[in-house]
Amino acid sequence: MRIQVNARNRGFEFDASPGESVLYAGLRAGIDLPYECATGTCGTCKAKLLSGQVSDRWPGAPGKKYVKQAGEFLMCQCAADGPLTLEVSKFVYPVEPGACVPQPCSGTVRKVRVLAHDVMGFALELERPRDFDAGQFALLAAGGVEGYRAYSMCNYERAARKLDFVVKKKPDGGFSDWLFGGNREGARLEAFGPLGKATFDPALGKNLLCIAGGSGIAGMMSILARAEAADYFSRHKAWVFFGVRTMKDAFFLEQLARSKAQVTIALSEEEVPSRHEWPNLRFEKGLVHEVAKRAMAGKYQNVRAYVAGPPPAVDAAIRVLLLDARLTTDNIRYDKFS
Ligand code: FES
Repeated sequence: MRIQVNARNRGFEFDASPGESVLYAGLRAGIDLPYECATGTCGTCKAKLLSGQVSDRWPGAPGKKYVKQAGEFLMCQCAADGPLTLEVSKFVYPVEPGACVPQPCSGTVRKVRVLAHDVMGFALELERPRDFDAGQFALLAAGGVEGYRAYSMCNYERAARKLDFVVKKKPDGGFSDWLFGGNREGARLEAFGPLGKATFDPALGKNLLCIAGGSGIAGMMSILARAEAADYFSRHKAWVFFGVRTMKDAFFLEQLARSKAQVTIALSEEEVPSRHEWPNLRFEKGLVHEVAKRAMAGKYQNVRAYVAGPPPAVDAAIRVLLLDARLTTDNIRYDKFS
């Protein structure tokens, strides 16, 4: 199906397969259409239909609250029923040369393991190697579970043969219910990615500040892996703040303790333990954005910040970074898709 997109600055044309979301088809064609969550919650991919018809696969998507005018729809949730012409009220550009263009792929679930009482990790062994940037995410779909869910990769490598993920158990979690609901070793998953602009490249040349709540630490692990492989911390500082409720919710502590970054675990609902087995880690009581705010006062020169986690935690951290740290928006990178 031919799709014509009239953006604020220019027009684009691309083809979509039957049933494929307009957003995924455009991204696959190398057109950087607006999106954030890619899974129906944020409303960023809103477009207006000028001609043609779309099928909406999730009419109750939370992002629909941003769809107010006649003809508007979410590109990530709608597929073309025939040729379409649509309008996007933002500037749209082709993806930059050399950028990792998202594609559909499939793989096999391996190394399923419990990381905390409600968090599991697993690797998706890919049929073909894929490139992605540190800090990106992918959409995953399991057979029998409606729609995709977004998860950040924890690892980093070029031509990756496997993608590592962390999944937190959520009420009505769909994919997380599936993962926690039985032995999934060897199961096949469909994936689409890589996605997301909260990426890190060692050419950045800035100190790094990572603020993560819960499973949001996944993308930070990818950024740390990329930085450490490039010996980035011999020239630049890094601070990581990892927010969890209690010690029993924490994971990846062994890997974080080995990092050259200064890592603080923020415990929101428990006092700092008087004894623990992690001499290289700091522990503070409080919400992660408050702990980061106290520890980072006066240290924001030449800093790029990355934020991930539940949307309220991400919003609170962004407020600190804008109002206290006075970082420019270009130096605050986040993905908000949980
Ligand atoms: Fe479509 Fe978030 S990108 S609702």
